[in-house]
Amino acid sequence: MSIATDQQQRRVVRTIRGEPTSDGAGVRLFRVIGGQALAELDPFLLLDEFLSDDPDDYIAGFPDHPHRGFETVTYMLAGRMRHGDNQGNSGLLEAGSVQWMTAGRGIVHSEMPEQHDGLMWGFQLWVNLPARAKMIAPRYQDIAPADIPQVELGPGVTVRVIAGRLGNTVGPVSAVEAEPLYLDVELAAGMSTTLELPPEHNAFVYCYAGDVTVGGEDPGPVDHRCLAVLDKGDALRVQAGPQTTRILVVAGRPFGEPIARYGPFVMNTREEIMDAISDLRSGRF
Ligand code: FE2
Repeated sequence: MSIATDQQQRRVVRTIRGEPTSDGAGVRLFRVIGGQALAELDPFLLLDEFLSDDPDDYIAGFPDHPHRGFETVTYMLAGRMRHGDNQGNSGLLEAGSVQWMTAGRGIVHSEMPEQHDGLMWGFQLWVNLPARAKMIAPRYQDIAPADIPQVELGPGVTVRVIAGRLGNTVGPVSAVEAEPLYLDVELAAGMSTTLELPPEHNAFVYCYAGDVTVGGEDPGPVDHRCLAVLDKGDALRVQAGPQTTRILVVAGRPFGEPIARYGPFVMNTREEIMDAISDLRSGRF
């Protein structure tokens, strides 16, 4: 007996390993998107993983710095980060929480560890904005751990839905231009599942514990600090290796626009970058 299916399974196009680097005032991290190997994956501009229990690796934090033209998404697994900006907004990002910050036309903010020892573990993802939305007003979506729905897809398969839709479950992040899907998936050893993905979105899998086989064929296991870029399709099959495996599954609508990038400014043209620099210097953020 065969089961008819018209699902288009996504496969791995390439894999990229995170590169050790440092940012902010000397925070050690692994850059997966936004480094030498993968400058961007439209609409994603950067993906960093920070993971250390040595305070020297994180304590200096990210003092005041600007952003314009895109969104930053911080997902904390362990530790506490204090956020504050030049418009009076502040908040504490705790383990399990997400901050989806739309920088839009510009903010100056700081992201500082609020602990002196212990484990600090999490991710920062940068999501682009289309040209028509780059100069919108800044917006925050601070989401507490309890507000992120958790779905049991089967025995040993648990998914936190941060953004987008999984079956009938809709994540709490709303009204983002890239129409993102952001899932945190935990698979018990050897377990597998098939996830539905928006067919035209660009998508990746990032493994942060264990190892996972992605797609129908086996291009080699995707293990910790390894990102798999996927081709197009509406379904994704993932299977854990011999240990508990944790992955981020992220998808977004590509904008297909020119990218002009200078540090924390991501615009469409060089002229807009010059404007951003001059606006920052003259206090217009
Ligand atoms: Fe920042």
